Parts: sequence; C-alpha cells; structure tokens
Amino acid sequence: MRKLLLNLTACSLALLPALAQADTLRMECAPSKEGREFCRYVKQRFEAQTGHTLTFIDLPRASDEKLSLFQQLFAARDANAIDLFQADTVWIGVLNKHLLDLTPYVSDMRQDFFPAAWQNDMVNGRVKAIPAYMDTGALYYRKDLLEKYGEQPPKTWAELTRIAARIQQAERANGHKGLWGLVFQGKSYEGLTCNALEWVASQGGGTFIDADGSITVNNPRAAQALEMAAGWVGTIAPPGVLGYMEEEGRALFQNGDAVFMRNWLYAYVLTQDKSSAIRGKVGVMPVPGGADGQSVSTLGGWQWAISSYTKNPQAAVALLKIVSDAESQKKAQGLLGWAPSRQALYQDPQVLAQAPYLATFSGILAKATPRPATQTRRKYAQVSKAIYNTSFNVLRRDSDGAGAVQTLQARLERIRARGWR
Ligand code: GLC
Repeated sequence: MRKLLLNLTACSLALLPALAQADTLRMECAPSKEGREFCRYVKQRFEAQTGHTLTFIDLPRASDEKLSLFQQLFAARDANAIDLFQADTVWIGVLNKHLLDLTPYVSDMRQDFFPAAWQNDMVNGRVKAIPAYMDTGALYYRKDLLEKYGEQPPKTWAELTRIAARIQQAERANGHKGLWGLVFQGKSYEGLTCNALEWVASQGGGTFIDADGSITVNNPRAAQALEMAAGWVGTIAPPGVLGYMEEEGRALFQNGDAVFMRNWLYAYVLTQDKSSAIRGKVGVMPVPGGADGQSVSTLGGWQWAISSYTKNPQAAVALLKIVSDAESQKKAQGLLGWAPSRQALYQDPQVLAQAPYLATFSGILAKATPRPATQTRRKYAQVSKAIYNTSFNVLRRDSDGAGAVQTLQARLERIRARGWR
C-alpha cells in the first residue's frame, strides 16, 4: 500500500509541471454535423496526448470572407484568437507573415504528401502550412436520369447544356416541376472565380493572368465563355444560382432537384449519406471541356496552418501533427469527403472502398489548373475579387462578355500597378 502511495505521489509530481502549463488551444471547426464529429475526434486525441484543452471556433464559410476575418485577427496580433486553422490554397502568399514557420517541425513529413501541394505551402524555402486536403472542381450527375434518357455524361459544355435542358423539360412535363438542369457557384465570391476559370480556360480563353504575370483576360474566347454561363441563368440553372455557394447548390442537388452540379470533391461522400434523396444515383467526373473536349478543373484545397501569434507553438504543432496524420485523414475522408493529401492513402483499400472516385481523381488533382495566386502574391485577394465581381456582372446581365473582359483587364492592370509584389 505504502509503495503504491509513494508511486502515485511520484507520478503526480512528475505530471505537475505539465499540468501547471496546461493551455487552451483554439482550432477552427467546420460548422456541420460531420465537421463537429471530426473535431470531437481530434479533441479527444489531442487532450489525451498532451493534457492541454482544445476548443473550437466557427468561421464564415466563404473562402474570401474567412480571409478578411483572418487579416483582421492577425492585424491585432491577438495570441488568443486562433492557434490552428485551415488556409485556402490561394492564401499562403497573402498570409505568409502571419503563419508560423513550420520548417523545423515538419520537414521529415515532406515525402508523404503530394509534391505540388507541399510546394504550394512553401514561401522562400520555408514551410508555412501542411496540405490538409486536396480539392478540384468536378461535375456530379444523376446516373439514373441520364440512363432514363439514353444520354452519356457530357464531355463538353455544349453537351451539358443540351442534356440539362432536355431532361429538365421532360421531367417537368412529367410532374417534377422543381427540377433544374444545373447548379454551380454563381454568387459573387471566391467560388465564382474558380467556376469562371474552368469556363474560360477550357474554351481557350487563358487563366486571366498567365504564369509569368501577364494579364491575358481581354480576349474573345474569355468573353464568350462568360456569356455561355450567363445563358444558363434562369434557363437550365435557377435564378437563385446567383446567390449560391457550394452548400446551397448541394442542398438542391441532394434533394433530387438538379441533373448536374459543379462542385468540389468533398460533395460525393455527402450525397451518399443515408439521408440523401439521391444516394446510389450519383456519378462524378471531370468538369466538361470546350468544343475540343479540353477540360480544366480548378485546383482547390486547404492547408493546416498555425498562427505566428500562438502562445504555445509546441502544443499547436502537436495538434497539427494529429490532424495531419493518416488516421485523421481517413476519418476526415469518410466524414467530410476531404480527399487525402497523403499520397499513400490513394492505395489504401479502406479509403478506396469509401471513395472509389479517388482512383480517377488522383490523376486529375495532379494536373488541375491553379488560380493566379502564386504569381500575384499578396495581391491575389484583390485579383480574385476583380475576377468574381466582373464575372458576376455578366451572369447578372449587367455587362456583356466583351465589355466585362475589357473592364477586368483594366482593373487587373491597376491592381498590378508597378508589378506583382
Ligand atoms: C473549395 C476549394 C477552395 C476554394 C473554394 C471556393 O473549398 O477547396 O480552394 O477557394 O472552394 O469556394
């Protein structure tokens, strides 16, 4: 008994210094049922491993709104604001100086991740974030409806437009009055930049700004591509698409009220949920291409990053390692549809059983088209805003395609001013 007591005392004494320094860390948590479940899982592992406490923060859903919020938080250098968060793939250059330098902690993990994604998170040779999940644009379609009408999944925008209109009209005549042909992200926000890049680049209109920083958007193909999308609004796409981000379109599609949906890879797992009206009826493929079938999928994805104002970098790194290990990535794939950033998981039988489409998309991820973020550096947020605002004006018919690309060219030139710095 005495021996046991002595042991207990020694043990508590050993724990004492650690407990005295127990901290509370803050991490962002996706505001959905599945997001909460993932966060509970992370909390349980982190607290058991470190003795610290983990709390969660809700953030806005739109990428650009999140970015503005971070810019405000970081401007105040508040050590209590947030420790670990997800940065969009296009923000690393914008947020660089507010991100903890992870180089000393994570360099040995490099070979486990997709090389291009890892490279995206490096600034001047320093690792500033770790790829959390991979993402790219995808076209979802209703297998059952395409089959019913003897149609193949569309390889071009023209085919998509024709099939969507045909099925919408026929099904409405059959009594499904609320059916639409297509949903996409048409609101004026970051998601529209991603959609517009796919329409424009796949039709030979370039990527707004090319890899060496030249502004290329003022061309007839870009104008035509935006006009094409404007033609969908109110015909095959609901007028409300002008207010849709990812989740609004998914709600409609998942309710069985759309034939096609442009979205990101995460959506597949959710469309297969037990509560989904279209479970088992969904196909997913690369987004359609221009007349020659050349498809362009925008590169997306999110990165785990630590605020450089964190008061406990060691604990924040421990948390980052938990959320980025293979077990957490499998969990997030199953719950939230996050495509792993660890390459080995694309050969993992459990992952492939859960998400068979990943076998196809691993190749597409590798050649997805990036938004012009690397070359425009700290100015990317302004660049993207100019792109989504002008594209939105075309969708809303406030401007025609030709006028819009001319205006956008001039706006981008003003933002660039004396160079992308
Ligand atoms: C997805 C992508 C992200 C993109 C966002 C736009 O979350 O992963 O990169 O910025 O959609 O809405």
